[in-house]
Amino acid sequence: MGAGERRTSLSHREKCCVLRRTCSSVCVATVGFVSILGVSLLWLPEPRIVDPLVSKVNSPVTILIWTQPFGHYSSLPDCSELYQIDQCTLTDDARAYLHADAVIVHHREVATGKADLPPEPRPRAQKWIWMNFESPTHTHRLRYFEGVFNLTMTYRTDSDIFVPYGYLFRNKGVQNHFVHPLRVPTRSRLHRPRLVVWVVSNWSESHARVAFYYSLSRYIRVDVFGRAGRPVPKDSTVVRLVERYQFYLALENSQHTDYITEKLWNAVQAGAIPVVLGPSRQNYERFLPPEAFIHVDDFPTVRGLARYLMMLRRNPARLRRHLNWRGSYSMHQASFWAEHYCTACNAVMRNRGRTDVVQHLTGWFES
Ligand SMILES: *[C@@H]1O[C@H](CO)[C@@H](O)[C@H](O)[C@H]1NC(C)=O
Ligand SMILES: *[C@@H]1O[C@H](CO)[C@@H](O)[C@H](O)[C@H]1NC(C)=O
Repeated sequence: MGAGERRTSLSHREKCCVLRRTCSSVCVATVGFVSILGVSLLWLPEPRIVDPLVSKVNSPVTILIWTQPFGHYSSLPDCSELYQIDQCTLTDDARAYLHADAVIVHHREVATGKADLPPEPRPRAQKWIWMNFESPTHTHRLRYFEGVFNLTMTYRTDSDIFVPYGYLFRNKGVQNHFVHPLRVPTRSRLHRPRLVVWVVSNWSESHARVAFYYSLSRYIRVDVFGRAGRPVPKDSTVVRLVERYQFYLALENSQHTDYITEKLWNAVQAGAIPVVLGPSRQNYERFLPPEAFIHVDDFPTVRGLARYLMMLRRNPARLRRHLNWRGSYSMHQASFWAEHYCTACNAVMRNRGRTDVVQHLTGWFES
């Protein structure tokens, strides 16, 4: 069933929004397969250890994907093959609604009215999962969804099902196609041919990042790529482009708790030092060692920041201080949306029998 067939108005939701959040839900932290690999996250809450025996006695779980995000259709993953999460059936066929253990509802479609919520009354014990990876600034009509969902799945560390855009871990032994081992540059690779790059698709004069770019480019040269600048060369990728630069501007479109996106992780993967604009330095330090990034708030003026970048270029020992941490880490970037669906499946298996209600979605998400 296509998203369009569920089109109806949201107005009936407007009446039902005044319950209080009574129970905060379990934090079913992180990606199942990471725990399975026995990897521990250093900077984020420890994932629960999955006991493979417990997983085996679990009965199968069916998850209904109510709408594929943003109307982009893609085939659903095999969680067993990709993440060794067994007994998980994913479907986007709404006929599975009556027997689905959980329904994943992506915010954008139900908020814009492209799709209605699943019908009530819902099957007993079925969990509705609120999925959203946009920041609060780009998440509208939240208040219509108070008391509707059972679990949250977002980039926030305090989500019931936490799926970060990316994270680091210390285990250097692990190698698979989800994991990028990070390296300290050799002496000849330390100094990169170009200085600062920014890749930006949505250019808006109202964004703090555009004001920051204007100020920074008064002092040093910033190459701009993406829809708002030069196109990324056809035979390249963002990561390969950034590999030629010393610094990468990882500027979020809006500033919110834990809202740290693939921009940062692309820079880390490419070995450029990220200059970040987003949540506070303290918040970034939950995800990265303190010296792994330069925060725009580290300097009282943009001029001071520009001078620091120029100084680093001339000073290999100081430059190294921002890169040596790489020697002990690997990086994982989330793969949209396969990882999200499979992680949700794992969480639903582990939460069977619980009742959870997300009463204060707006207050929580906007905090
Ligand atoms: C671009 O930014 C503007 C201003 O914040 C916002 O209204 C718009 O939704 C954004 N577009 C995309 C595609 O994110
Ligand atoms: C899910 O949330 C609904 C709406 O608040 C609630 O009635 C139901 O008991 C919850 N179910 C579970 C399994 O948590």
